Amino acid sequence: MPSARIGVFDSGLGGLTVVRELLRQAPGADILYVADQAHVPYGPRPLEQIRAFAEAISRYLREQGCATVVMACNISSATALETVRHALPGIRCHGVIEPAVRSARLGPPGTVGLLATAGTVASRAYSRALGRALPGVPVIEVACPDFVPIVEAGATGTAVAQDACRRYIAPLRGQAAQVILGCTHYPLLLPDLQAAASAMGWTMSVVDPAAEAAREAIRCAGMEATSGGHLVLQTTGDGGHFGAQALAVLGYAVAPAVAELHWQDGRVRG
Ligand code: DGL
Repeated sequence: MPSARIGVFDSGLGGLTVVRELLRQAPGADILYVADQAHVPYGPRPLEQIRAFAEAISRYLREQGCATVVMACNISSATALETVRHALPGIRCHGVIEPAVRSARLGPPGTVGLLATAGTVASRAYSRALGRALPGVPVIEVACPDFVPIVEAGATGTAVAQDACRRYIAPLRGQAAQVILGCTHYPLLLPDLQAAASAMGWTMSVVDPAAEAAREAIRCAGMEATSGGHLVLQTTGDGGHFGAQALAVLGYAVAPAVAELHWQDGRVRG
């Protein structure tokens, strides 16, 4: 079993924004990515259920030889990070919220805006972490329930996406000095977000946690992580569909092969 293998998971396509960064920073990294598309979107689900999914997927990644696991999913990071660290002490488990907050500390001073799923906002994980890192700095949190379905449906760049962007950033305009993309799907809407902001006469400063999350995982996995050299994609949904979706995010010339996983008695099986 290759112990330097990095396991990465999300509810769907969003976590590929972190994989893209891992590959950019460590092109030879050995990565296994799991998209839990049987359950996407995670955002509206009870937090207890998200915790169970995150633990089961992390357990599966450990069985596949991953010594490092990246929850490339904010809602999992918000609700399940400590549970999984406790349940699976043999693996090093990283989330995306601390990296996001570290990146925000380097951003422009003033009110922080957060765009995230309803579950992440309800968890208050960002307000707590930002309160510790940037004490006294106001935070405006906006739940964006339409964004993940838009991204998963391949509807970025459409009028529907533009309209949703306008609605969700309106409360932040003129208020937020920077805006954290608190869901890994949202960087895939960046052109829509920037277009909506500029139509409002606003140059929006955005924090995408992916680069810092990838740096943290690579630092922790060590140099060995760059010696394996391949990416394996798996989904609990439709493999052909996910391959076509991954093509655009990862910038491949042809759709990558994707193996299908399934859920059985609360566990992920190959
Ligand atoms: N991409 C995930 C996140 O960062 C989950 C989105 C969802 O499935 O609702 O929160």
